[in-house]
Amino acid sequence: MAIILAIESSCDDTGASIIKDGVVLSNVIATQLDHSKYGGVIPELASRAHMDAILPVVAAAIEKAGITMPEIEAVAFTQAPGLIGSLMVGACFAKSFAQARSLPLIAVHHMQAHVMAHFIEDPKPSFPFLCLTVSGGHTQLVLCDSPLQMRVIGETIDDAAGEAFDKTAKMLGLKYPGGPIIDNLAAKGNPQAFVFPKSNMPDYNFSFSGLKTNILYFIQKQQKLNPAFVEEHLNDICASVQYTIIESLLMKLKKAATDFNVNQIGIAGGVSANKGLRSAFESVGKQLKWATYIPSFEYCTDNAAMIAIVAHYKFEAKDFVDYNIVPSPRATW
Ligand code: KG4
Ligand code: ZN
Repeated sequence: MAIILAIESSCDDTGASIIKDGVVLSNVIATQLDHSKYGGVIPELASRAHMDAILPVVAAAIEKAGITMPEIEAVAFTQAPGLIGSLMVGACFAKSFAQARSLPLIAVHHMQAHVMAHFIEDPKPSFPFLCLTVSGGHTQLVLCDSPLQMRVIGETIDDAAGEAFDKTAKMLGLKYPGGPIIDNLAAKGNPQAFVFPKSNMPDYNFSFSGLKTNILYFIQKQQKLNPAFVEEHLNDICASVQYTIIESLLMKLKKAATDFNVNQIGIAGGVSANKGLRSAFESVGKQLKWATYIPSFEYCTDNAAMIAIVAHYKFEAKDFVDYNIVPSPRATW
């Protein structure tokens, strides 16, 4: 039981959270503008923006939590995976803070944190728990036996689901990040208008790069016949692509739930904000008698509260790291 400061800086969001005895007291995030004009996150710009944001974000998290800096008993940070320059800013801050005050330091894996976002608020899943984590960088099926014991049973062999959304949006001339834009346009379109192939990888793995190529060739072919094809059919294209991505995700989720005999099922990560995915997931859950879980929106996208909840369990387990630990862009867990 303790008061912990947690830092998240793996990509383009600078986050800080205070957790006390497992209860999140604050969750502050500074989202960087404006990577959209470059069509994606520019790592160098992201690192610099983290430098600007980290002190005010931490100060705001402490203030919102209604605590004082000397009350903090441990510091946690995202150690992996992510953009190395971004991770380094959070890691250096956390290490310095912890060392200056001789506090325990806790290293957190970003993907484990996305899964553990389900344990911030009630109702919480019980174990075993199966989580589909879908973000801009990852697509994973994770089987959890306890808060700190989990394993990846399947993942994408190429693009992540969020990337499939973002790259499709780019091909359609939409802004970055394209996921939320496609989500909104898809709501006005017919998901059966166009048929795209669903990949069927062995076991519980995913692949989205074939879909991307397929969409590109489809658009090129249609535009030869009608140069205004995309404009005229934008909603239907978005709905059909979104349908294909959702079906591919849920197919593997259903297979894993059946094979591992799990009925506590969650989705997490930025793509779990997708309205189509949320409703398809809920209806499959109803059909198959799952207890379904989706964290609140603020805990689905990158945030520090999810780092804090992992830190809470690691603190209880006295799972601390040395002050000279380094962040890593890729890391297994
Ligand atoms: O988890 P996240 O905030 O950051 C990491 O990648 O770790 O996820 C960002 C991804 C982006 O690819 C974005 O397009 C996608 O989540 N996303 C969505 C939606 N909201 C965010 N994709 C589909 N529908 C949405 N509503
Ligand atoms: Zn993430």
